Amino acid sequence: MQNFEQFLTEHLPTSKSIHPHYEAALQNMLVAGGKRFRPALLLGVVKAYNPLMLDSARHAAFAIELLHTYSLIHDDLPAMDDSPLRRGKPTLHVTFDEVTAILAGDALNTYSFEVLSNAPFSDTTRVKLIRELASNGGLNGMVLGQAIDCYFENKPLKVEDIKILHTNKTAKLIAASMKMGAIIVGREDVAQKLYDFGIKLGLLFQIQDDILDVTQSSEEAGKLTNNDEDKNSFVTILGLDESLNQANELADELTDEMLSFDGSLQSELSSLLTQYINRHK
Ligand code: IPE
Ligand code: IPE
Ligand code: MG
Ligand code: MG
Ligand code: MG
Repeated sequence: MQNFEQFLTEHLPTSKSIHPHYEAALQNMLVAGGKRFRPALLLGVVKAYNPLMLDSARHAAFAIELLHTYSLIHDDLPAMDDSPLRRGKPTLHVTFDEVTAILAGDALNTYSFEVLSNAPFSDTTRVKLIRELASNGGLNGMVLGQAIDCYFENKPLKVEDIKILHTNKTAKLIAASMKMGAIIVGREDVAQKLYDFGIKLGLLFQIQDDILDVTQSSEEAGKLTNNDEDKNSFVTILGLDESLNQANELADELTDEMLSFDGSLQSELSSLLTQYINRHK
């Protein structure tokens, strides 16, 4: 995807020290793969509006993937989802230990902002990108979502509240990826529209993830599935059929909304939507 993997390999966090596996832990989950959905969204927006900026945009796409990867490392910890498998590999706390997983997550979190602060944009753009990633990935974004998710384990929520949970833990970072693309190409006139689209897309992405928890094996998903029983997932609260209905409804709305974007953006977004968001039969 637009040379993103090569960029990631060339910019992996490094740290030479007497620690026997700290550096390996920093890199382990980044090189394990993943769909790279958020980088693809950011780079898709940039490619649609100004492909000449793709080289610089990769720094920002990488920063988002760093923050996202940190969120997964912490999500899998025994204190949270207690999961032994991620991206087809044993999780960091299994390969190494809990301390290493916590600290590797911490390091990737801050490294993402270091990468953004060094990215080849104007100072103004850099600050805007840092603000966007921090406000959507942080205390009133992903972290709030994770806090609600964990606090309300075994305490069923209303579906409206689950939407708030999903919006925070997943949709805001996805929306920020699209908005950051718009900021990079200087198209702030479409930034809010892309953000709103991204919130809906992110909600659909998390509903799909909840569905995959019950429809895919751990092997297929590359992570532990059937692990959401105590959670406020769409499927545990609404059941599989109603979750599929709601996912299809959202997918249809997004397909309609896509038609109001410029032609080149439409084709970038529709290829991502068909790749990652399946309309269920
Ligand atoms: C997993 O994210 C966590 C959710 C927000 C659903 P992804 O499904 O994007 O995980 P990777 O990056 O492909 O591993
Ligand atoms: C986690 O949601 C979302 C994050 C912010 C990491 P899940 O707990 O459903 O993600 P998976 O299913 O473990 O990937
Ligand atoms: Mg979780
Ligand atoms: Mg999890
Ligand atoms: Mg999940």
